Amino acid sequence: MSETVKMGVIGIGIMGRLHIQDIAALQNTELVAVCDVDKAKADQFAADTQTTAYYDYRDLLNHACLDAIIVATPHYDHAPISIDALQKGLHVLVEKPIAVHVKDARRMIAAYETAKQQYPSLVFGAVFMQRTYGHWLKIKAMIDGGELGRLVRTTWIVTDWFRTQSYYDNGGWRATWKGEGGGVLLNQCPHNLDLYQWFVGMPQRVTGSVTLGKYHHIEVEDEVTAYFEHENGMIGHFITSTAESPGTNRLEIVGENGRLVYENQQLTFFRNQRSMFQQIEDAPGGFDKVPFEQSLVPFEHHGQPGHRFVIDNFADAVLNGASLIAPAAEGINSVMLANSILWSSFERQAVDLPLDADAYANKLASLIGTSSFQKAAPKTTAAANDLSKSF
Ligand SMILES: NC(=O)c1ccc[n+]([C@@H]2O[C@H](COP(=O)([O-])OP(=O)(O)OC[C@H]3O[C@@H](n4cnc5c(N)ncnc54)[C@H](O)[C@@H]3O)[C@@H](O)[C@H]2O)c1
Repeated sequence: MSETVKMGVIGIGIMGRLHIQDIAALQNTELVAVCDVDKAKADQFAADTQTTAYYDYRDLLNHACLDAIIVATPHYDHAPISIDALQKGLHVLVEKPIAVHVKDARRMIAAYETAKQQYPSLVFGAVFMQRTYGHWLKIKAMIDGGELGRLVRTTWIVTDWFRTQSYYDNGGWRATWKGEGGGVLLNQCPHNLDLYQWFVGMPQRVTGSVTLGKYHHIEVEDEVTAYFEHENGMIGHFITSTAESPGTNRLEIVGENGRLVYENQQLTFFRNQRSMFQQIEDAPGGFDKVPFEQSLVPFEHHGQPGHRFVIDNFADAVLNGASLIAPAAEGINSVMLANSILWSSFERQAVDLPLDADAYANKLASLIGTSSFQKAAPKTTAAANDLSKSF
């Protein structure tokens, strides 16, 4: 293996372009090929970066001299492209969500496990760059370090994923069952759902309520409320929308030792002077609340979108065996949560995890099969969608 990881980027849209810039900026990566089904786009980026253009990912996998690929196509293609690449012994960094549904995610993880028998140092990572953000790292460290004690409740209101009709109209594949396989849960929220499970683990039961195309002309969900029940007794709430402006991004994690709140770029800890459970048990007065102190928790944040750190770490894993920030196998959890919320809403009942992956894939196929949805023609150009406004 050379000192740089020779990479191909598949899908040169909004995200793939940023990956190309990051690969150029890093010391341990080298772009050797680009691939897009849009020939003009692939040719232009290959010329700009002095690399080779491919128009079919199979040609890239078969002919380019590569160590690794980044998959930045629309979601449904993440599974077939990742699986084919892993089977050839290529390292893969896949965009979120790793797959549209759990069945595909399982196929990807199984392909990785099989390929590793032949290529033991194979690396399979996912682009969950929010795991590098200082505030989320601090929260993770505090929970893992036991500072909150036994957890009681986690509530995330993340309604600041505002999107206009222009956003949906411009991406041909966006916000349809066939093109994207879901709405806010599959596109914007994989990051939040990944962080949720990273912080507090997976629930054992999910109840979801979603509305389809309530505020946008789309056929998938743009407003979501979910309730999670965890085996340890903790309850969770997850509320999201692409139709609130100004939106909220407030995460509350409550444990016996106090309440941790992240909102407005500040992390606040309301630290109990003793365990809330102890207080319930032995406080003399019926209304004796636990005395607490409120303080801002310091953290360091790099202030970057974070994708570059994920690619750097991925290359470090390939070259030096570094631990991944986000192993792709962990990406199945956010897919499981998104699928379960939708499934619960469709079936109007709670869903016990793990979700019935075949039943969900069949439901998605039937939604696609019976769809009569027509996308509106875009009124503005795709250039109006500046991704930097998203992070
Ligand atoms: N991690 C993040 O912060 C982040 C942000 C935005 C998007 N994404 C993810 O990146 C992926 C792409 O999103 P986008 O916004 O860049 O979409 P996009 O529509 O801007 O770009 C997708 C590109 O893939 C090309 N393409 C489609 N099918 C292909 C195939 N089979 N082979 C090769 N090229 C193909 C399209 O022609 C297009 O150029 C999605 O999965 C999305 O969820 C991640």
